[in-house]
Amino acid sequence: MQIFGVDIGGSGIKGAPVDLDRGDLAQERFKVLTPHPSTPDSVADGVKLVVDQFGWTGPVGLTFPGVVTDGSHIRTAANVDKSWVDTDARALFSERLGGLPVTVVNDADAAGVAEMHFGAGKDRKGVVILLTFGTGIGSALFVDGILVPNSELGHLELHGHDAEKRASSKAKDDEELSWEHWAHRVQKYLAHVEMLFSPDLFIIGGGVSRKANKFLPHIEGIAAEIVPAQLQNNAGIVGAAMHAATDG
Ligand code: BGC
Repeated sequence: MQIFGVDIGGSGIKGAPVDLDRGDLAQERFKVLTPHPSTPDSVADGVKLVVDQFGWTGPVGLTFPGVVTDGSHIRTAANVDKSWVDTDARALFSERLGGLPVTVVNDADAAGVAEMHFGAGKDRKGVVILLTFGTGIGSALFVDGILVPNSELGHLELHGHDAEKRASSKAKDDEELSWEHWAHRVQKYLAHVEMLFSPDLFIIGGGVSRKANKFLPHIEGIAAEIVPAQLQNNAGIVGAAMHAATDG
């Protein structure tokens, strides 16, 4: 079965039909840049461009980089325009896509669900935490394979700062940190999360997961196993489609 997945991020909106049996994209994905300001209206236009590119007319699963409840209600918007808060995203996207059935899920939760089924978390029991390092830090918390949604661990306080402002990959770029320096910040962040949840496994996602060999060797003193995500930048798209298959 195929469902269309769209991943809305701070820098790009990317999507493709997803083959749910294989947990992979059925066609090469298409991407547009996230508009600025990233208001509901302008992002919905971007989503329409992506979906129309494929002439898609079936169900669509979307991710959103903030807290989402009931597959629709946007509650926070840390890295996109604040006018998203309290929007009914399902109604917005469905209307813009000519009435297609739509469901919306937090971006890290989507990536986590995809990794747990098809990637680095496959068959893993216990407490597993996927962290995505990108514009912000996203988190997906699993207990014996079951998601605890909207965990938002990127906003834990770390040395008096919002953790994602210190340890996201955007912070690395903005402050021109070396891999080693940034890894040191990530290590402090992981130690804090470990103190709270004692996970068995950390899965490191986001664009940096492709460069795990540059920073994972610098991270020490964490008891949990730490592995890079396997679906890399497609995890959000795959997870969005999986969410639509069960929730849509
Ligand atoms: C948001 C999360 C999101 C993460 C990654 C954070 O700022 O609060 O909901 O998962 O960024 O996009």
